[in-house]
Amino acid sequence: MNATRCVWILSIIICVARGHVGNDIGQNQKEQDTSADNSTESLSLVTAANREFAFRLYRSLAANPDSQGKNIFFSPVSVSVALAALAVGARGETHRQLFRGLAFNSTWLSQTDVDQAFQSLFEKTKKASNEVTSEGTAVFMDNLFKPQPEFLDTLKKSYFADGFNVDFTKSSESANTINKYVEEKTSGKIDKLVESLDPQQS
Ligand SMILES: *[C@@H]1O[C@H](CO)[C@@H](O)[C@H](O)[C@H]1NC(C)=O
Ligand SMILES: *[C@@H]1O[C@H](CO)[C@@H](O)[C@H](O)[C@H]1NC(C)=O
Repeated sequence: MNATRCVWILSIIICVARGHVGNDIGQNQKEQDTSADNSTESLSLVTAANREFAFRLYRSLAANPDSQGKNIFFSPVSVSVALAALAVGARGETHRQLFRGLAFNSTWLSQTDVDQAFQSLFEKTKKASNEVTSEGTAVFMDNLFKPQPEFLDTLKKSYFADGFNVDFTKSSESANTINKYVEEKTSGKIDKLVESLDPQQS
């Protein structure tokens, strides 16, 4: 089963007011419960990898001829979250490529370590954010895709992700579903993220 073919994962972290999110989430690892040595270790590995990924992504966006002379807005953490969540359902070479792309070293980190690290990052951000941030991760799955229950459980538990079933062959309908989700999560600030979906791409 090729999960990447029919699953879309969207992660949004919106900064509504003065709150700062981005690379710095999870920097206060020191206050972490010291009884869980391994999870503290994984958390700092994941945080370091996210930072590395953010620089790589920035360099590659900045090098793109289309972005010359323009400001670049992006949320590296959202991209990391979406790809890490996608990795939950990936196996074999796809999984290795996602890990490599995300700068996770599989010598030190398993998928479970990564899941737990993101879970504690999310929990920490929620506590610190005083509602100035709104974040959401959504998984849009093709109707034909029958995910393993563990896949959905992990997404819900570690990535706080909502799951939606969509019919990607009905492109404007699925675009509406995605747009409605994004509009709601961003309190109307972003109301049309996707115009229409090319069924060939899903
Ligand atoms: C912590 O990590 C070490 C080495 O990776 C492993 O042998 C050990 O079982 C882990 N402990 C827990 C509680 O997961
Ligand atoms: C992962 O860590 C090991 C041990 O520190 C290192 O030898 C290896 O080069 C690392 N892999 C990557 C892709 O950075």
